[in-house]
Order: sequence, then structure tokens, then C-alpha cells
Amino acid sequence: LAMLALWGATGYLLGSIPGGVIMARLMGLGNLRNIGSGNIGATNVLRTGNKKAAALTLIFDAGKGAIAVLAARAAAPEDAVQMAALMAFIGHCFPVWLGFKGGKGVATYLGILLALAWPMGLAACGIWLAVAVITRYSSLAALVAAGWIPVVMAFAGYGAATGLAACLGLLIYARHWGNIARLRAGTEGKIGAK
Ligand code: G3P
Repeated sequence: LAMLALWGATGYLLGSIPGGVIMARLMGLGNLRNIGSGNIGATNVLRTGNKKAAALTLIFDAGKGAIAVLAARAAAPEDAVQMAALMAFIGHCFPVWLGFKGGKGVATYLGILLALAWPMGLAACGIWLAVAVITRYSSLAALVAAGWIPVVMAFAGYGAATGLAACLGLLIYARHWGNIARLRAGTEGKIGAK
């Protein structure tokens, strides 16, 4: 139990470091809360027009998820790895540093999946990219990827990791209620739109 708590806390602390807020501050992009969707993720950083900052945010927020998984895996049993992964995602979405108002977890989810089960991580990135290129909706791309990955993992026999992917998928849907409402209303912002 102490092991789970330790890796849960480590995961949370890693996940709670907001890449987007840090990049926006370092690169003088203003307050992300006043831009686009107001979210702290790479998609909204891109709406500042600064592609480099958006790419760095994506890499940072995915990287912290991957590091949480890889660090736990190097030192602890698989249930602690899953705890670190889940808590890194929770940390990104509810960071204590931002009054628990964080992001939507997509980049962190991708990083977690790449470190946890890299073929599924690549599949998730592939689905995200395909839907994003076709529809230009970042949120829809995330929702399609997060929905399909647990199904694929169940059929591919990934065991307990499938439960984690399903759990993260549900959390991604929960964090995207506003996006889902905008998609249904036809008012969701597209990637590259001004
Ligand atoms: O990663 C979050 C993305 O799916 C949606 O972001 O800023 O369009 O709400 P945003």
C-alpha cells in the first residue's frame, strides 16, 4: 500500500506540472485562460499562433506521463505503474498549483500509453492524427482515439492495462463535455482556424 501511495503521489506531482502554462509564460504568449477554449493544453497553445510553443507543450505534457510510467516501472510492480499513470493523468487535469483547474489530459494520455504499451500508444497517435487531419477537430480526434483504444486493447489481450485505458478514456470524455456540446452545436473551433 505504501508503494501505491508513493507512486501515486509521484505520478500526481509529475502530472500536475502544466507544460502549456510554463511555455506560455516563457514565450510571452499571454494568459491561456483568455485565449480560445481557455484550456492549458497544446491545442489551445496553438491558438496563440505559436507552433513551437504548442509542439513543446505537447512534448512536455506527454513526456511527464511517459516519465511517470517508466520511473515506476523501473522501481515498482505493475500495480504501482498503473497507479502512477492514473495519478499523472489526474495531476494534469486537477493540478493543485492551478487551484485544481487543469487540462483535458490528451497529451498526457498519449505519453502514458506510449510508455505503458507502445504499440497502443502509436495506434492512439495514429487515430488522433487521422481524425485531426480529416476533420480538423482536436477534441474529436481525442474522443475517437480514447474510445477505440480500450476496445482494441481488450481484443489484443493487454490485461490490466486495458482497464486503465478504459478508465483514462472515460476521464477524457468527462473532461470534454464542453467540447462535445460545441461539436454537436457545430461551434467547436478547428485546428488552424483563426
Ligand atoms: O487536448 C484537448 C483537446 O482535445 C481540446 O482542446 O482547447 O480545443 O478544448 P480545446
